[in-house]
Amino acid sequence: MLETSRATTTYRRLLLLCFLSSSALCFLLSEPVEGEEEIVSRSHFPDGFLFGTTTSAYQIEGAYLDDGKGLSNWDVFCHVPGNIKENGNGDTADNHYHLFLEDIELMHSLGVTAYRLSISWTRILPRGRYGEVNPMGIMFYNRILDRLLLKGIEPFVTIHHHDIPQELADRYGGWLSPLMQEDFVHFARICFGSFGHKVKHWATINEANLFVDMAYIRGWYPPSHCSPPFGICSTGNSDVEPLIALHNMILAHGKAVKIYRQEFQGKQGGSIGIVLHAMWYEPLRANNELDQQAVTRGLAFGVGWLLDPLVYGDYPSEMRLLLGDTLPRFTVDEMDYLKGSIDYIGINHYLTLYAKDCLHSSCAPGGSDHAIRGYVYTTGDRDGVPIGQPTGNPRFFVVPGGLKNIVNYIKQRYNNMPMYVTENGYAPPPGEEVQLNQILHDVKRIDYHKSYLAAVASCIRDGADVRGYFAWSLMDNFEWIDGYTVRYGLYYVDRTTLKRIPKTSALWYKDFLANSSGNALDLTQYHGRLEQDLRVAGLEDL
Ligand code: BGC
Repeated sequence: MLETSRATTTYRRLLLLCFLSSSALCFLLSEPVEGEEEIVSRSHFPDGFLFGTTTSAYQIEGAYLDDGKGLSNWDVFCHVPGNIKENGNGDTADNHYHLFLEDIELMHSLGVTAYRLSISWTRILPRGRYGEVNPMGIMFYNRILDRLLLKGIEPFVTIHHHDIPQELADRYGGWLSPLMQEDFVHFARICFGSFGHKVKHWATINEANLFVDMAYIRGWYPPSHCSPPFGICSTGNSDVEPLIALHNMILAHGKAVKIYRQEFQGKQGGSIGIVLHAMWYEPLRANNELDQQAVTRGLAFGVGWLLDPLVYGDYPSEMRLLLGDTLPRFTVDEMDYLKGSIDYIGINHYLTLYAKDCLHSSCAPGGSDHAIRGYVYTTGDRDGVPIGQPTGNPRFFVVPGGLKNIVNYIKQRYNNMPMYVTENGYAPPPGEEVQLNQILHDVKRIDYHKSYLAAVASCIRDGADVRGYFAWSLMDNFEWIDGYTVRYGLYYVDRTTLKRIPKTSALWYKDFLANSSGNALDLTQYHGRLEQDLRVAGLEDL
């Protein structure tokens, strides 16, 4: 009761907002009154705003050899001992391939209006363009899409999320080869043709800017290329290869979008975009002009690297200036089809760090003094104090203002084109989840989503055209090189039985979406509901 009345007071002023891009897009929002604590609730978002959960194929599907699926680069990489923590792999993952009906039921019970998933390339094309389409793969995704639509959940489909056919890695080294562009276009065309009448939101590629860093600078993701001082790998050139790989990914995106627009979009009526790893930086030395410039450069090398070509047709001038001819060039024809090749921007946000200039200042060795890093050193630590609460990833901290800042930056840099927060989520630091009840009573995750949702609501009130928010992740899953040791899920997945158990955050999200809670938590109420769920799952003794 108390909460309801505070919420009414806090949001008693109404605000009429119209997006610049379309005067028809107007809605009423309630606005917080200054000085009162911000409370986030579903009613602070416009009608039709998508609230979802998100996953990716390799991280949840398992069934890595079932029904004609081919081997992906991650299947092969994970089978090399030592590549993944505790030698985890996605062979079974969450067995979503066999449990997808149950998983869609979980989402339905949460009350989400959208679900972001990705398509396993080798389930559809086991050998890339060097083999046939696998009808069982097509059937699998059609069954998922049909079920989602039946349940009133909007599918938001990413075509490529890190996993490529191993055949393409073996034949020509994956994304380092321009031949990959044709492979991606072939795959995308099959996806548009087979699923497009059910999909209103396509994303071509997930976090291409993060992927090339992980695969070709740090060498942590397959094909594990890197060179000193960035890392020690058997092969690679960290100063050059990421630029080539991303160039190929950008062109692959552009070509796929051209086909979608020419052959499918008119009759299918969907929109198509790309998903960015969207970081934010603060100057390490406060009020220092050089570090402020490092922030600007860091953002151009992070955000602009991927998005400028897709909006304006070319790489940011900051990059050309420092990288010269090492940065590939687009032909006039390529610029032409790249320019304007996204209908929306997908924002995956986890990271806010401090940035320090390494162009005019000295920096510790490690690569920040290289052009590929824009001569920017990034850290989560200032004089021993972390920039926000630490999480399960040493470079991710809890800084909700970072999401607000990056949304506003993207809004300004790209003329407020439609945006979706396609991923945002929290994993606790190692050591904080020893007992099952610590995993399940995840109050920090609830606080995280609440504060980041409040940041999104505030951006919308300031006029940003943000149209959706997807919590990473629906359930605990295969967290790449961390295997199953780091958990982002709203649902806990028992690794022996693969049973899904709602964490407190799942119950909170459900209440938030039903607009009945979201703020001061009555944890005793959640505990009772959790205990009941555990009894039903036969896990009450854990
Ligand atoms: C990726 C996800 C990953 C998440 C958490 C994102 O960069 O898209 O696949 O699980 O971050 O690390």
